[in-house]
Amino acid sequence: MPDMLVNLYGSEVSALAKKANGNFATIRPALPPEMNLVIEWVRENFSDNWASEVSVAFSRQPIACLIAVENGTLLGFACYDTTARGFFGPTGVAEEARGRGIGLSLFSDCLQTMKTLGHAYAFIGDAGPVDFYKSAVGAIEIPARDKGIYEGMLRRPKTQS
Ligand SMILES: CC(C)(COP(=O)(O)OP(=O)(O)OC[C@H]1O[C@@H](n2cnc3c(N)ncnc32)[C@H](O)[C@@H]1OP(=O)(O)O)[C@@H](O)C(=O)NCCC(=O)NCCS
Repeated sequence: MPDMLVNLYGSEVSALAKKANGNFATIRPALPPEMNLVIEWVRENFSDNWASEVSVAFSRQPIACLIAVENGTLLGFACYDTTARGFFGPTGVAEEARGRGIGLSLFSDCLQTMKTLGHAYAFIGDAGPVDFYKSAVGAIEIPARDKGIYEGMLRRPKTQS
């Protein structure tokens, strides 16, 4: 999967900020007392690797993790400046809450936060849903030959079921 590049000063990022507030979930920075709950939720719904990245997001001040909450339920998360400076991600929305604009809202709010913190561009490391990022903000694939920061990353052996 490629790394992707987003111009935070591009018109598509501004347009997304106007568009991406139509869902009813609240998007806000996670709070320190929510750390264990959010990390466990990410591990259960996504992966141990992503839970580790969220742990790093909670070690920073301000906490580099936004969450989507509705009626006291966690529905999604998104991190920035976590695996590397300038990186957006990881991000994820609960399966049952997908397709309601929550992923876009989390993405948009992270990009605006990154811009406020002084970034001009954001990278999406090892982007999974490439088309999501292309259509959301015109993100472009970085034509790098090698895998980048995740090359050679240690992974747990897959357990056989
Ligand atoms: C990718 C993800 C965060 C999107 O969250 P979501 O809340 O379902 O997204 P939204 O409802 O905000 O989607 C808005 C738009 O993006 C499109 N979209 C959503 N997921 C997409 C995908 N995987 N690929 C392409 N387009 C996608 C929707 O069709 C919608 O388009 P529209 O506005 O033209 O109707 C969610 O599918 C997810 O958690 N996926 C698994 C984890 C993952 O892959 N994370 C990204 C790692 S880099």
